[in-house]
Amino acid sequence: MSGHGIGVLGVVGAGQMGGGIAQVAAQAGLDVRLADLDLAAAERGVRGVVAQLDRLVKKEKMTAEARDAVAARLRPVAGIADMGEADLVVEAVSENETVKLAIFRSLDQACRPGAILASNTSSISITRIAAATKRPDRVIGMHFMNPVPVMKLIEVIRGFRTSDETLGTTLALGEALGKTCVLASKDYPGFVVNRILMPYINEAFYVLDEGIGTAADIDTAMRLGTNVPMGPLTLADFIGLDTCLAIMEVLHQGLGDSKYRPSPLLRKYVEAGLLGRKTGRGVHDYSEGKA
Ligand code: CAA
Repeated sequence: MSGHGIGVLGVVGAGQMGGGIAQVAAQAGLDVRLADLDLAAAERGVRGVVAQLDRLVKKEKMTAEARDAVAARLRPVAGIADMGEADLVVEAVSENETVKLAIFRSLDQACRPGAILASNTSSISITRIAAATKRPDRVIGMHFMNPVPVMKLIEVIRGFRTSDETLGTTLALGEALGKTCVLASKDYPGFVVNRILMPYINEAFYVLDEGIGTAADIDTAMRLGTNVPMGPLTLADFIGLDTCLAIMEVLHQGLGDSKYRPSPLLRKYVEAGLLGRKTGRGVHDYSEGKA
C-alpha cells in the first residue's frame, strides 16, 4: 500500500471496462477483487485480462515473471458480498441508473465503513448514486476511457457531497495507476468528456442522415481534418451505439435543450440491434474480413 492508502481494489463488472481497470490496477501493484453476476463470469473476466497480459509478453513489453506476478494479484470473486476487504471499489457495469443504484446499495452494505465507492459512469449523476448509500461523502466518479490500458485519462467527478479526503485519495490513486486525472468539479450530465464528445458523435449521425457525406467520408474528413485516431462514426461503433444513445438521453433529459436530442438514425441503429463492433455491425461492418 502506498500514499493513496488503497491496498485492495474491488471492481464490479468484468466486461471490457472492468477488465481494463482490473488490469491497470494489478499492474500498478494493487490486489484486485473482480466481481460480476457470478463467479464464472468473474473468472472469464480474469482470463480476458490474462490474455491481454500474454499479448504484452509476446510483444516483449512484459516478462513472463511479471505477468505471473500481475495475474496472482487478480482474484475473481462470486459477487459484491465478497468486497469486504476492498479499500476502494470501482463499479463498471452498463450505463443503466436503476442497476447502478442497486449495486451501490449492496456495496454500501458489503464494504467496510471507510471504503470509497467509485462509479465508472460516463454520464449518470454521482450525486444521485451517492444518495443511494449511507456514505455519500465517500462516493465519487472515476471515469476511465476505453481501452483502459492505453488511454491516459481518468475523469474524476465530484458529487454534491463528496469529501475533500475522498477526492484526494482518488486523485492519488489515479496517479499511481499511471493516469492523468481531470476533475469535473460540478456533477452535471455528461461531466466534461461526454458533454463534448457525444454531441459531436450525435452530430455525425445527423450529417449522415441528411446525406451530406457518406459514413466513410465523414470518418475520413474528421480523422484527416482534425488529426483524431478514429472518425466519429468509427469511434461510436467502438464505444457501442447503445452506450452513445444512453449518454445522449442523459444529456437531453438532464440539460433539456433540443441541441442534445438524440439523432433518429442513431436510435434506429440501436433498435435494429446494430450496436457497433461488439455485435459485428454498427455504422460499419466488422464481420470477418471486413474489419
Ligand atoms: N486493450 C489493450 N491495448 C490495446 C487495445 C485494447 N483493447 N487496443 C489497442 N491496444 C494497444 C495495442 O496493443 C497497441 O499497443 P502497442 O503500441 O504497445 O503495440 C496500441 O494500443 C495501438 O493499437 P493498434 O496499433 O492496434 O491500433 P491503433 O494505433 O489504431 O490504436 C486505439 C487503437 C488506441 C484504440 C486508437 O484507435 C484510439 O486511440 N482510438 C480512439 C479511442 C478513444 O477515443 N477512446 C475513448 C472513447 S470515449 C470513452 O471511452 C468514454 C465514454 O464514456 C464513452
